Amino acid sequence: MLRGTKVGLRARHEDDIPILRTELYDDVAGSSRAEGGPWRPIKPDANDPRLVVDDENPGVVSFSVVELEGGTLVGTANLWGIDNHNRCAHIGLGLRPSCRGKGYGTDVVATLCHYGFVVRGLQRLQIETLSDNVAMLRSAERNGFVREGVLRSSSWVMGEFMDEVLLGLLVQDWKPDSTG
Ligand SMILES: CC(C)(COP(=O)(O)OP(=O)(O)OC[C@H]1O[C@@H](n2cnc3c(N)ncnc32)[C@H](O)[C@@H]1OP(=O)(O)O)[C@@H](O)C(=O)NCCC(=O)NCCS
Repeated sequence: MLRGTKVGLRARHEDDIPILRTELYDDVAGSSRAEGGPWRPIKPDANDPRLVVDDENPGVVSFSVVELEGGTLVGTANLWGIDNHNRCAHIGLGLRPSCRGKGYGTDVVATLCHYGFVVRGLQRLQIETLSDNVAMLRSAERNGFVREGVLRSSSWVMGEFMDEVLLGLLVQDWKPDSTG
């Protein structure tokens, strides 16, 4: 398990799946904001990659996030679009509603930075998020990510186009303990 200060990132367990389906992926509005695509229901036995991890896909590494103290499931986190030639990847995360606003998101980003830069030897990490997602923007910026641009009207979300912010962090600018 990867350890942050508050959370751990471990493999997906069977028991995590119904919780993640109910609390994250059955939420039409929340999924539409986080997924960058149209919401669709997930069948109970479906091998949907958001729930069932495909270890054969070298471009994605998926984790379940748990509280270090007690091991309660907090949400999901992943590196996706892993490009070992250009040595870059994207970060994604989603926390259970009851686990938001407690500093876990900031710690998840810190832990994914450790995984990307130290374990995987990447040189650049990137995050795209809706421009009104203050908690995600702050979680990224607290870890040293800088805003590199705005993708104007790039995301169709529940009846309107929204801007996305592109944030990046290079390994040489990363300060592992910057979140305090
Ligand atoms: C985005 C998300 C991962 C952030 O994680 P979190 O645990 O809620 O965030 P934290 O508690 O670490 O807070 C980070 C910062 O945002 C601020 N913040 C948290 N929730 C906030 C809110 N609802 N409104 C405004 N600011 C907020 C915190 O005060 C903190 O600010 P600081 O660094 O200045 O102290 C989480 O809220 C989430 O899963 N949201 C739904 C899914 C999602 O949006 N995923 C990202 C898709 S790109």
